[in-house]
Amino acid sequence: MKRAVAFALMGGVLILLVVVGVLVVREGGRIADPTDAKQVALGKVIYTDHCASCHGATLEGQPEWQTRKPDGRLPAPPQDASGHTWHHADDQLFGIIKNGIGAYAPPGYESDMTAFGSVLTDEQVNAVLAFIKSNWPVDIQARQAEASRRAKQ
Ligand code: HEC
Repeated sequence: MKRAVAFALMGGVLILLVVVGVLVVREGGRIADPTDAKQVALGKVIYTDHCASCHGATLEGQPEWQTRKPDGRLPAPPQDASGHTWHHADDQLFGIIKNGIGAYAPPGYESDMTAFGSVLTDEQVNAVLAFIKSNWPVDIQARQAEASRRAKQ
């Protein structure tokens, strides 16, 4: 009898461990964490391949990025702290990268910032975001993290 109880308890503990493990792994891919060196390294490769051509090799953006080009579209803004990417919460940045800026603009708005949802997985979007954030000074990182927390409430 005692043995049966002990087995049941052990079984319960095992199931709990598996559930916690799965949750931790899933959470890992869902958060863009600038202190996660592995995620940042992956993000750097993705940034170089898919973003640097417009946003710049050192995240500096295109020249005169606040002035519309002759075709009426905006140049690519910097992704470093001199731009305004850090003014947006995580969920919105994730959405812009995955769905394109059009999802956040008035109907018919034309932009060179296309959706990467068919090119990058959700994990890759978070990785590139983690890399971008890792270039911001820590006080800017903290302010953006706070804005992201508030946006989730
Ligand atoms: C073909 C050029 C181009 C490429 C490639 C590109 N972007 Fe953009 N991106 C833009 C432009 C242009 C804007 C500004 C759009 C607007 O406001 O109309 C922008 C805006 C953004 C914004 C919003 C910034 C803000 O301050 O509001 C984010 C975030 C962003 N891009 C991330 C990325 C990431 C990450 C990649 C790579 C996966 C990427 N972009 C690839 C051109 C590009």
